[in-house]
Amino acid sequence: MTPTLPRMQTTSRHLTPLLPVRSVRSIEAYKSAGGGQALAKALATPPEFIIAEVKRAGLRGRGGAGVPTGLKWASVAHDPCPTKYLVCNAAEGEPGTFKDRFLMRKNPYQLLEGIAIAAYAINARKAFIGIKKSFYVEIAAIQRALSEMVTAGFLAGIPIELTLGPEDYLFGEEKALLEVIEGGEAMPREAALPPYVLGLFVRDPSQLNPTVVNNVETLSNIPRIIREGAEMFRSCGTRSSPGTMVFTVSGDVRRPGLYELSLGTPLEELINEHAGGIKAGRRLKAIFSGLSNAVILPDSLDTPLDFDALQSIGSGIGSGGFIVYDDSASMVQVAQLFSKFLSTESCGQCTACKLGTTQATDHLLKLTGGTGNELDVEYALEGSAMAPQGNRCYLPVQHSLLVPSIVRTFASEFQRAFNRGCSSERRMFLPKMIDFDEATHTFRYAEG
Ligand SMILES: Cc1cc2nc3c(=O)[nH]c(=O)nc-3n(C[C@H](O)[C@H](O)[C@H](O)COP(=O)(O)O)c2cc1C
Ligand code: SF4
Repeated sequence: MTPTLPRMQTTSRHLTPLLPVRSVRSIEAYKSAGGGQALAKALATPPEFIIAEVKRAGLRGRGGAGVPTGLKWASVAHDPCPTKYLVCNAAEGEPGTFKDRFLMRKNPYQLLEGIAIAAYAINARKAFIGIKKSFYVEIAAIQRALSEMVTAGFLAGIPIELTLGPEDYLFGEEKALLEVIEGGEAMPREAALPPYVLGLFVRDPSQLNPTVVNNVETLSNIPRIIREGAEMFRSCGTRSSPGTMVFTVSGDVRRPGLYELSLGTPLEELINEHAGGIKAGRRLKAIFSGLSNAVILPDSLDTPLDFDALQSIGSGIGSGGFIVYDDSASMVQVAQLFSKFLSTESCGQCTACKLGTTQATDHLLKLTGGTGNELDVEYALEGSAMAPQGNRCYLPVQHSLLVPSIVRTFASEFQRAFNRGCSSERRMFLPKMIDFDEATHTFRYAEG
């Protein structure tokens, strides 16, 4: 029989949002909003009950792939290896996404409590937070909260360490993240085995130190699931995608920003109501969920924001970052920018990945520059298709889903660019966020 967690009295009839209205800036403020109750409850309960509750809640990883969190935890918890680790992935490097940084700014205590519960549930020897060293604001927030929580004896002695990592996009890839924690470079290790089988600091092949890697938002969900129960968590969202998700919306909308909504909410509501819709006089042209999936077109706006529904239209929810373009945007430039980002970030350990993504980028550059023709389109498609061969990680697969979808969907726009470049005056840029001003709903982007 599946173990059940004892029910707890909650004062609210609604699931507590992950994003508080006001930032939580002290342990007292966190405690007064129910902070700490979940960890206390977890520590008084056998770990398998905690894992069962997370499974029952149906929480799916918010780092991009939507892997069921409870299953990942169970796999590590049931492994006979005596040494296990937990890693919180706070590397957030996907263009169009800022939700993990926002969550760490708004409530670092919730994340730390989630980490402590996860570490207890899987019997981790230690927990690491892998975070880019450029994330000054978030590092300061986490360090302040961590020191307050440790001083107050809040974290039950579970050791939590920050690993400050490089700017590379691959730092967020789980096998590269483990390399960085071990003191190496942000390059995915060769192992075909995922971290939950072959984990951190393996010295002896008989002890694989299985390691759970979870995203910031995934772990931030844990305290409310344990405190309020799986049923309450499932009161939001859909059957296969329960709970809420923090969506980032950027690009040609009136109110760019971060919005926490129930999963299952139509994409149209996110774009047109919460993000204010497309600017006056313009029409929606294309939406991208980060740089990991195929383009989403305006006729799919009624799709529910749900892992499976977005997959069923040939795209994906990714990490919930939606980049929106209106009809003034050049899709030739967008394809080139996205391709260039992925080829630059490819570490080159797998020949086909570096060659294929570079080939695609070079030929798309000829098209934007006015010297390209149909052959360049073919070479771009060929490069993208060949990139995922012998790949250690998912990056070239992202390219092969994303870039050809733009080239094929906007084929006539590419044709118009043959031998003359883009007709659009507008210079497109890669929406890689570095800051967000909540008061003015403004993102700041990395240059270049
Ligand atoms: C190129 C690449 C970059 C990634 N970057 C991130 C990242 O910045 N943050 C993140 O949580 N997951 C990222 N991921 C996904 C992680 O590898 C991993 O699936 C995730 O951290 C698991 O957490 P979850 O189960 O809670 O979703 C990336 C994957 C790839 C292929
Ligand atoms: S697939 Fe590409 S990015 Fe991933 S490890 Fe290989 S070369 Fe590096």
